[in-house]
Amino acid sequence: ADVCVIIPAAGSGTRLGEPVPKAFVDLCGRTIIERCVENIPAALGASVVVVVPADLIERARMLLPGVRVVAGGAHRSESVRAGISAAGDAGILLVHDAARPLTPARVFVDVVDAVRSGHPAVVPAIPVVDTLKQVVSVPGGLERVTRTIDRDELRAVQTPQGFTRDALLRAHADASGLATDDAGLAERIGIDVHLVPGDPLAMKITTPWDLRIVRDVVGR
Ligand code: CTP
Ligand code: MG
Repeated sequence: ADVCVIIPAAGSGTRLGEPVPKAFVDLCGRTIIERCVENIPAALGASVVVVVPADLIERARMLLPGVRVVAGGAHRSESVRAGISAAGDAGILLVHDAARPLTPARVFVDVVDAVRSGHPAVVPAIPVVDTLKQVVSVPGGLERVTRTIDRDELRAVQTPQGFTRDALLRAHADASGLATDDAGLAERIGIDVHLVPGDPLAMKITTPWDLRIVRDVVGR
């Protein structure tokens, strides 16, 4: 396949607080990771690599027949690097959080199209709706605001994040690189990152509240 989707799913889901790691939590009869993989549009013709905690490799292989499953690392970036190593020689690599199982097909297609049209790094993003304050902590007291940040200049980014093979390999070449997203590593080495419109359905399941919303959307 010319496109490979790497799905980091090796986190523990500490903030979600469920008894099993986040990707293995039930979402109305199917696990989050199953729904995430099923939701990748077939039209992409993509191969898929799923990165899971080492002790859940067999379970993941049972849930996801035909999908390459490998063990992740202690940090998200390490898990992504494990995925890259298993991605074969696809020319376009997408990195997609397992925690965003309802991402619409349109977002995948827009990201891939933008990479194909010559952008080395492409990220879905949505406007920020809250007013944002920068703060300092005050020992023993309330946090104090130092300034208000102009939200018109800010975007909240989602996944899948798409890269030419070369761009993603260079972004992750320094094996000590840690960031909460892959575009962050690309930016650091001077690769231009471009945005396509994200979608509310690409929301990340992080907290119990998020899981409640996503379960409501799927409908039990
Ligand atoms: N991830 C991963 N390997 C890690 C840490 C995270 O593959 N060592 C993955 C998660 O499985 C998730 C995505 O990266 O699909 C985004 O991470 P996050 O939402 O922070 O998930 P968790 O790390 O599992 O959650 P928490 O931080 O609350 O423990
Ligand atoms: Mg995490």
